[in-house]
Amino acid sequence: MLNAPDTAPAQGPRHVAIIMDGNGRWAQARGRPRLFGHHAGARRVREVVEACPGLGVKYLTVFAFSTENWKRTQAEVAGLMSLFRRYIVKETRTLKENGIRVRFIGDRVRLDSKLTALMDTLEEETKDNDLVHLTVALNYGGRDEVARATKRLARDVAEGRLRAEDVDEETLPKYLDTHVLPDPDLVIRTSGEARISNFLLWQSAYAEYEFIDTLWPDFTAAELERLCHSYGSRDRRFGAVPA
Ligand code: IPE
Ligand code: IPE
Ligand code: MG
Repeated sequence: MLNAPDTAPAQGPRHVAIIMDGNGRWAQARGRPRLFGHHAGARRVREVVEACPGLGVKYLTVFAFSTENWKRTQAEVAGLMSLFRRYIVKETRTLKENGIRVRFIGDRVRLDSKLTALMDTLEEETKDNDLVHLTVALNYGGRDEVARATKRLARDVAEGRLRAEDVDEETLPKYLDTHVLPDPDLVIRTSGEARISNFLLWQSAYAEYEFIDTLWPDFTAAELERLCHSYGSRDRRFGAVPA
């Protein structure tokens, strides 16, 4: 059910991006394997997505797997890939029925074909939805994204579709994976780490940040609501002097 009571702050964020961190520590604190934490973390996503309409959040972007996460053990990586496949299969119907449009960002080349086929299907199945735009960053890295974008841009210049002298700061974002999305207004990172770990580097130039201690599997809609309200009381100057 997505008809949550309207608790939207007047000046709330339209696009919230979340670095969902702390699954491993959450599991460890319970004496369980890291994958137990990843499963618990995946289960939190639904409540957070469903809270968005009531908070006026139209775009939610979540960091699920980074280009650096391949450095983890083979068992953890395989467990995460299997979790992503199972998650998509299990959630497709609910996402579709609840008006959620799902997109994936990141480099698909390194992902296995069974997973990318499920990702394509979920994007296709939800493409007419417009209540909330959920973007899942999977094998995503901000630097990798900019490098891939630059490669395509350079090709367009080399093949005469774009003039080098016309390249400005409006040009590159058109080549980014996020080209159809607005920039994030609020970036939240859970688990107490105060770093962005290669997430939405270009897009977050003027985002507000919240680094909170909660581990991702403990994150709730109530916490999102609190952060959206606190965002509403911030003064975003974008480099100008307030009037
Ligand atoms: C975030 O939780 C999920 C992924 C990076 C896939 P972590 O697995 O990084 O959890 P911690 O940081 O080790 O607690
Ligand atoms: C960032 O978390 C990536 C995701 C949440 C998917 P990490 O746990 O991988 O980041 P670091 O290693 O602490 O910087
Ligand atoms: Mg981590």
